[in-house]
Parts: sequence; C-alpha cells; structure tokens
Amino acid sequence: MEYTLESMFGIKGKVVVITGGCGGIGSGLAEAVGSLGARVALIDMNEEKLADMAAQLAEKTGAEVRGYAANITDEESVKKAFAAIYEDFGSVYGLVNCAGISFVRPLAEMDIDRWQAVMDVNVRGTVICAKTAAYYMEKERVGRIINISSLASTHGKPQYTAYTPSKAAVDGFTITLATELARRGITVNSVRPVFMLTAINRAQYADNLSGAVEAAKSRIPQHRVCSPELLSGLVVFLLSESSSFVDGQLIGCDGGSTFGDISNVNYQPMPYEDEV
Ligand SMILES: NC(=O)c1ccc[n+]([C@@H]2O[C@H](COP(=O)([O-])OP(=O)(O)OC[C@H]3O[C@@H](n4cnc5c(N)ncnc54)[C@H](O)[C@@H]3O)[C@@H](O)[C@H]2O)c1
Repeated sequence: MEYTLESMFGIKGKVVVITGGCGGIGSGLAEAVGSLGARVALIDMNEEKLADMAAQLAEKTGAEVRGYAANITDEESVKKAFAAIYEDFGSVYGLVNCAGISFVRPLAEMDIDRWQAVMDVNVRGTVICAKTAAYYMEKERVGRIINISSLASTHGKPQYTAYTPSKAAVDGFTITLATELARRGITVNSVRPVFMLTAINRAQYADNLSGAVEAAKSRIPQHRVCSPELLSGLVVFLLSESSSFVDGQLIGCDGGSTFGDISNVNYQPMPYEDEV
C-alpha cells in the first residue's frame, strides 16, 4: 500500500449522502466534506430550505451539492431519493444518518405520539436510510455508514425518556449492522457528540438558551460545547480509507465526557483564550 495523505485521508470525488442536510449539524458536515472534494447529496424533509441550502453549500465549497426531499420515516420516499441520487451521481459511497428530532418532557407529561415520533425519525428513519444506502454500496462492495447518535444514548438525564432510548437503539443498530456488512466492505459506526448549539437545542431551551449552554459546559471536561466543526474531523476520518478497520464502534466527540464529568467538583477550568 502506498501511504499518501490522499490515499489515507482523502475523500475527493466520493459520493456522500447526508440526511438532515438542512439542519445545523448536517449542513456543517456537508460543508466540511464538500470542501474536501466529496460530492454531496443532502436529504431533508424541509423542501423549502433544501434547494437554497444545496446552492449555498455548492457556492461556498465549490463542490457538487444537490438536495433531495424525503421523509426518512417513509421507505418509499427514501427509495425514490436514493434512486435519484444514484442516477445523478452514479454511486453511493457514504451515508451520514444525521436527521433527528427530540422531545423532552417529564414522563407524566410525555405525549406518547410525540414519543413515538422521536423513535420513528431517530430509529426507523436511520434503519430505512441504512438499508437503502447499503443496497447501492453493495454494488461496489465498499461503503461507510455513520450514524449520528449522542452521548445521551448512555447517559441518563431526567426527561429524556424519548431521546435517550432512541439513540441507544441507534447504537444497538450500529453494532449489529456492522457485523452483518463487515464482509462486504461496508463499515458502520456511531458518533456520539455532546451538546451543540443548533436548531434542535435552540427550540428545546428557548426560554434559557445561555443557561443551557453554561449547564452543558459545566459538565464537559474541556469546558466547551461541541460544534459541527469539532465533529467534522471524526466524520471525515470515518469516511476515509484510514478508518477501514474501525467498525461497529460508538465513538464520542464530547471534550472528555464519555468517561469524565466535572459537574460535581469544586474546580475552576482555565479560560480559553477567547474567553479571557
Ligand atoms: N444538537 C445537539 O446538541 C446534538 C447532540 C448530539 C447529537 N445530535 C444529533 O445530531 C443530529 C442532527 O441534529 P441537529 O442539531 O443538526 O438538529 P437540527 O434540528 O438542526 O436538524 C435536523 C434536520 O433533520 C431534518 N429532519 C427531521 N425529521 C426528518 C424526517 N422525518 N425526514 C427527513 N428529514 C428530517 C430537519 O428538517 C432538520 O433539517 C440529530 O440526530 C441529533 O439527535 C445533536
């Protein structure tokens, strides 16, 4: 094997599908992979935003970026989107399962239909997209499926009785699907970011957003929240050749929070330069 930066870490020309592509994380990851030369297909149910988002990202990155409207909980809708992607791009190499929703309430007030909706988008949608993408990846016996899970999948928090089980199911799906696709050149991994300031949290903590950010930082050893930029390196690595033996993993991107928590110690973290 010849070791060059491009052969190990390059994703130039690879076709990467990103669900939830109009969202904070999906669009941020699309910008990162597009800037590195990948060809990007965004899937999102927000039809209004989709064309603009694809055009903006194409202009910003110089990459080929196209949008495909689909509701990921509807298998027919997803199949149609992937058929169009395959027709337009000629292959499907990577899938980043990023579309997701949350509903946070005390259990006594948990509307069971809203609970089900979280399971439908986060679990059913992830399964449908992986199933459809794998069909195309198997044609070339190579592929990368990256499921955007969450630190919340293994960290219980009050009122997260919809979101946490949905992400735990995503992680369970990752470890089992990885074994099924392992001999077909397709890797499957979960990435588990910690709190980010995107629409999902802006809506959830609308009444006290800065309080929510400070509360999140107070638990994270690096004392800063995640961002699409901080997440993008891990996703690029998982898309690249260099991660071909990294399979069925649940990988944190959380400033030390997987195994660490600074919330209950009397400890003043060093300020970052831009905070001094
Ligand atoms: N923001 C965070 O703090 C955080 C932390 C850890 C994990 N995550 C996970 O990252 C992912 C992206 O989150 P985000 O912060 O970018 O959220 P976001 O709300 O900004 O974006 C979510 C996107 O998914 C799309 N979507 C929702 N339901 C859909 C459906 N049925 N079909 C197609 N598209 C649909 C929305 O239109 C939206 O564009 C989610 O899976 C979320 O659980 C987020």
